Amino acid sequence: MMFTVAIDGPAAAGKGTISKAVAAHFGFAHLDTGLLYRAVGAKVLHGVDPLEAAQTLEPIDLEGDHLRTPEVAQAASKVAVDPDVRAALVAFQRQFAARDGGAVLDGRDIGTVICTGADVKLFVTASAQTRARRRLDELNAKGMGLEFADVLADVEARDARDRDRETAPLKPAQDAVLLDTSDLSAQAAIARAIAIVAAAR
Ligand code: C5P
Repeated sequence: MMFTVAIDGPAAAGKGTISKAVAAHFGFAHLDTGLLYRAVGAKVLHGVDPLEAAQTLEPIDLEGDHLRTPEVAQAASKVAVDPDVRAALVAFQRQFAARDGGAVLDGRDIGTVICTGADVKLFVTASAQTRARRRLDELNAKGMGLEFADVLADVEARDARDRDRETAPLKPAQDAVLLDTSDLSAQAAIARAIAIVAAAR
């Protein structure tokens, strides 16, 4: 059985939490596609050519806490503007989506480009303030000691770059269900998402 759930939205809106929970609930596989761009960004920070990094990406490159830093996030959003880099990552994502047993993919362009025929499309949003607060708590829980203003600036810069780029800009698919998590607990947001997916099965 093939069943694809596409979850898109801006940085730190809750996509990761919701995607993991939906995948666990239904027994689907989960791919955080931001990790692909982060892995390419991390290599570029080490001097590798962006397109070469995207073409030679290995599963092992997607592992590790070093991908979860603000520096790598910024590098990721810069390489993500390049249409050739994006094109090099399409096949892997589509193969993942087509696997037997169901798949959840989260990112920016899953519902609009990667899986236009997804069975369920969710667009998860929250105010920039809420998202920056959540990201701050998440990163500082790992001992990073960041300031709110810096995290907010980082989130807003990435959102602007993701929305304004020409190729695969961040936007809801026409048939996406919008889920604003600003005033929802993680549990409540997860429950909504699970109900939406359950209704489509
Ligand atoms: O989701 P995450 O914050 O890890 O993504 C890092 C960056 O990768 C985003 O800011 C965005 O520029 C890029 N990205 C993308 N398309 C995706 C997933 C991530 O352009 N499907």
